Amino acid sequence: MKLKFIGILFLIFSLCTAGYTQKFEELAQTPPMGWNSWNKFGCNVSEKLICEMADAMVNNGMLEAGYNYLVIDDCWQVRRDSVGNIVVDPERFPNGMKTVVDYVHKKGLKFGIYSCAGSATCQGRPGSRGYQFQDARTYAKWGVDYLKYDWCNEEGQNAKAAYKTMSDALKECGRPIVFSICEWGDSKPWEWGKGIGHLWRTTADIRDCYQCTFDWGGLGVLDIIDKQAALQQYAGPGHWNDPDMLEVGNGGMTYDEYKTHFTMWAMLAAPLMAGNDLRNMDAQTKEILTNADVIAVNQDKLGQQATKFMDMGEYEIWAKPLSNGEVAVCFMNRTNQIWKLDYDWKKQTMYFATEVSVHKKVYNVFDLWEHKNIGKTSERLVKEIPAHGVLVIRLSVVK
Ligand code: GLA
Repeated sequence: MKLKFIGILFLIFSLCTAGYTQKFEELAQTPPMGWNSWNKFGCNVSEKLICEMADAMVNNGMLEAGYNYLVIDDCWQVRRDSVGNIVVDPERFPNGMKTVVDYVHKKGLKFGIYSCAGSATCQGRPGSRGYQFQDARTYAKWGVDYLKYDWCNEEGQNAKAAYKTMSDALKECGRPIVFSICEWGDSKPWEWGKGIGHLWRTTADIRDCYQCTFDWGGLGVLDIIDKQAALQQYAGPGHWNDPDMLEVGNGGMTYDEYKTHFTMWAMLAAPLMAGNDLRNMDAQTKEILTNADVIAVNQDKLGQQATKFMDMGEYEIWAKPLSNGEVAVCFMNRTNQIWKLDYDWKKQTMYFATEVSVHKKVYNVFDLWEHKNIGKTSERLVKEIPAHGVLVIRLSVVK
């Protein structure tokens, strides 16, 4: 009896300490999911907004769907005090940051914050250059769980060294903090980011459009997708390519384009950081962001990024191997017209993944947007894919 009691005490102790002792290297074993203020609200952040967003995430099913990091982007900070501590905007955060973090934690969410490796952030607020260890200790004191670290006003620093300094500071701050490298892919962070951070931006900022160009920087969804194909080998548990945050629900794309955006981010094992106003999502936005079948592809524990399996110019096929011998396959239509797909699995020459061969076994074809089986690989796959749309399926062996 006594032994059993000691055993239970030991178990409780182990469970309690597990959260605190989680090492930097053990974080983000699947792509981080959450919400970030930037895409919709820019500099317009406040205690009120963040607390309302926390409420919304719990009430509208986002947390349940897996979105557990709530991240404040730029503009929460205004200056440094006489000893160099970062000062929170007193008008927008009248009760300080710790109060906001505590509120977010009480809701069952994790809290993320933003800073910059340069002397100033992209919006001209104080950056962390020269204050990395001090800032990391402040974040730990507040209870921060995630840091997005930008690259404006970097003043000629070496990117790897600059990010390593903040990484070292986070590793020493006494709290597990996911480190999001936001260097826009300029110095190929996929080649040096593993072990320094858990995710790294691969491109300039996303714009809320399917395909568009900006002379002042920024890319639409299609151009971002094109840049990810070559980076497949760099992603894996704890270290992810980050094609930037989601624009789903912000109004710049059609329903089918947003489905493509979300599906491809899932296929690419990208972090899924919603960037819309979660307090008033319409039904389509909610349907997209909380699609459990698509999210399961993104969060699959194998952690593989999809490869561009076939490039037919205007049509593409991407494949993402999943655990349990399954594979997600995405047919992507880049054109303005319907793609009348008539796919004969028997004519396929390559394997989707080492273990997945449609010639050796028969697979069920499960449509991840219709949420039902739509056939088998022993039959042709005949389907209409809308303009700028996708068909995404999961193949699993017929038992
Ligand atoms: C950069 C980043 C964005 C955002 C803004 C904030 O442009 O890439 O994601 O954080 O700064 O100023």
